[in-house]
Formats: sequence, structure tokens, C-alpha cells
Amino acid sequence: MGNIVVTGGAGFIGSNFVHHLLAHTTHDVTVLDALTYASNTASLDGADESRMHLVVGSVADADLVDSLVAKADAVVHFAAESHNDNSLDDPSPFIETNVTGTFVLLEAVRRHHTRYHHVSTDEVYGDLALDDPHRFTEATAYNPSSPYSASKAASDHLVRAWVRSFGVEATLSNCSNNYGPRQHVEKFIPRQITNVIDGVRPKLYGAGLNVRDWIHVDDHNAAVLRILESGRIGETYLIGADGEKNNVSVIELILALMGQPTDAYDHVNDRAGHDLRYAIDSSKLRSELGWQPQFTSFEDGLADTIAWYRDNEAWWRPMKQATEAKYQKVGQ
Ligand code: NAD
Ligand code: TYD
Repeated sequence: MGNIVVTGGAGFIGSNFVHHLLAHTTHDVTVLDALTYASNTASLDGADESRMHLVVGSVADADLVDSLVAKADAVVHFAAESHNDNSLDDPSPFIETNVTGTFVLLEAVRRHHTRYHHVSTDEVYGDLALDDPHRFTEATAYNPSSPYSASKAASDHLVRAWVRSFGVEATLSNCSNNYGPRQHVEKFIPRQITNVIDGVRPKLYGAGLNVRDWIHVDDHNAAVLRILESGRIGETYLIGADGEKNNVSVIELILALMGQPTDAYDHVNDRAGHDLRYAIDSSKLRSELGWQPQFTSFEDGLADTIAWYRDNEAWWRPMKQATEAKYQKVGQ
């Protein structure tokens, strides 16, 4: 393929994808990232600089995007405003980056006939009852609940329309909740790990019975690469690793793995519109493209993640205080 533009490559999943690409392929990588609060350039430390180049700018900047896409063989679009709680506080950057940014990228790949992969979330499908025997599939109707998931749903619809109307060579993937190294401390798992490191009790929204379908970020990224290389144009693939767990059980496991009593956490205000349960059926990806998760033990993956946060305090420390101050204001 040659040169791959990775948008959002200084964020959590995008930076892990850049390391994955450099390790497992011969492609060169151009990272396009606006370096928002959610990014960390240290996440790209160790990337081979002869093959990786960081361009600082927005996916909504049409001239910049055009100049990069003109030289690219493929675009993998991770860049987004990604945090539900922030979308409840101020939805506007979610519309600008997630909707307008995707539109700008689609117009550029249309002009230059460039292969495009769109990274999205299972949250576009809304939520499931705890006892629903069904899981999300590629045929599930869209039903987003939050400004974040609505903006991602809008972006997915744009991609599908650009495939059908203009023949853009795109694939889409919708993945469940990721965990692993280099995730911002605003998110559930790193927030609790870094709280425990700081001697602060983990914070559980509401009763904590909400279920998320956890997947290790490396498994997500291996699937994205497989879809980029072998996915059928115009198709959507759901990515998930059969990792359903409720939030209480995740907090208890973090506490146990960190040598604390498993009831040493606090209940805090619930999130408005809080989705109850996500669950992914990834049969299509597994049967069509032969992908399988490598991290089959959540406990082992979580233990590795805890070790990473213990070993990389310099990476997360600068963002911790401001993140907690923001949560404190809303009683979370
Ligand atoms: P993140 O918030 O950690 O990183 C997002 C990155 O995008 C940051 O580096 C940020 O600076 C950059 N960015 C934001 N606005 C930009 C703009 N206008 N132009 C260029 N760059 C911009 O997010 P993440 O968790 O790594 O998520 C990456 C993608 O994966 C998103 O599209 C998200 O919807 C999707 N996704 C995430 C999860 C998850 O569990 N985190 C699950 C499924 C899908
Ligand atoms: P989050 O990491 O924000 O991901 P998402 O909203 O995309 O699922 O939250 C994961 C779950 O954890 C969600 O049910 C909200 C809950 N949560 C807490 O209980 N406490 C917290 O401090 C945070 C940040 C989230």
C-alpha cells in the first residue's frame, strides 16, 4: 500500500495502531492529529521516525486534508472526540470533528480515489436490556443515545452514502469498549487504576450494573488492519471479543489485582442517558476474515494494563488533576 494516513494517531487506539502498523507491515505512516487534550505525543515515542511523520492539524481542515490524501495510498480514520461525558457537557466539538471531519475526509478520498477505513463504535446501536439474548450484529438498527454516539452514527451514515453514491472505496468497523496502554485517564479503566495508585477510591456511576463488552486495543487494531487489507468494499464489520462484564465487577477486579479490598470504591452520580448494555456478535469478522482475539483472558490483559500505568506515570500524571477536577464539578 505504501503511505497510510492515520487520523487521530496521537490518541489511544490510533497510537497503538501506528505501533502495530510499523511492527507488522512495511507501510509508511502519516499521522494527522489536532493534538487535543485527549492526545499525547509521548504515545508515539519509539515509533521509527524514518517511517512515521506527525502532521499537526484538524481533519476538518479541507486544504490540509486534501494535501495529505493526495499523497496517500489509504486513510484509516480514528480521529474523534471520543468521551460521552464530555459530549453531555458540550456537544459542539463532537459535531465539528466527528461529523464535519468525516465529511471532509470523504470528499478528499472521493477526489483522489483513495482507500478509506472508518473506525466507529458499537454505541451507534444504542443499548440492550441486561437479559436480552441478542447481541449487536451488522444488521442491528442504529439507535444512538448520546451526542457522542449520535455524532459517530452520523459519520457512519456519511461513509455508507459516499460508498453508494460516489463509489468511494470504504470499509467500516464498529468496535466495543477498548482497554490497554495509552488510554486517557478520563476513561473508566485508566481512571480507576490511576485513582488506586493515588490512594483515591474508584468511582462507580450509579449502581454500576451497566455492561460493557471489553476488548484489548491490540485485538481491535489487528482487526482493523485485517479489514483494511482484506475487507470487502462497502461492508461493515463488528469487532468484539466476547468480553461482557458489568462495571462493578471490573472495579472489583482492578482493586483485587492492585491489592486492595474489593469493596473500597464509591458510588457517584450516574451519567445522564447512561446506556445499560453493549454486546457484540463478531461472527462475520471471524468467519469472513479469519480474525480472532489474542487476549482471551481479561484478567491477564487488565493486569498488564495496570502494570503499564504503574510503569508510565510520567505519561498520565500531567492530565490527571485536570481530569479529576472536571469530574468533581459534576459529582462524579
Ligand atoms: P482518543 O480520544 O483517545 O483519541 C482521539 C484522537 O483524535 C486524539 O489524539 C485527538 O487529538 C485527535 N483528534 C480529535 N479531534 C481531532 C481533529 N479535529 N482533527 C484531528 N485529530 C483530532 O480516542 P480513542 O479512544 O483512541 O478512539 C479512536 C476512535 O475509535 C474514535 O473514532 C472512537 O469513536 C473509536 N472507538 C473507540 C472505542 C474506545 O473504547 N475508546 C471503541 C470503539 C470505537
Ligand atoms: P467509558 O470509559 O466512559 O466508556 P463508554 O461510555 O464509551 O462506555 O465508561 C465505561 C463505563 O464505565 C460506562 O458504563 C460508564 C462507567 N464509568 C464509571 O462507572 N465510572 C467512571 O469513573 C467512568 C469514567 C465511567
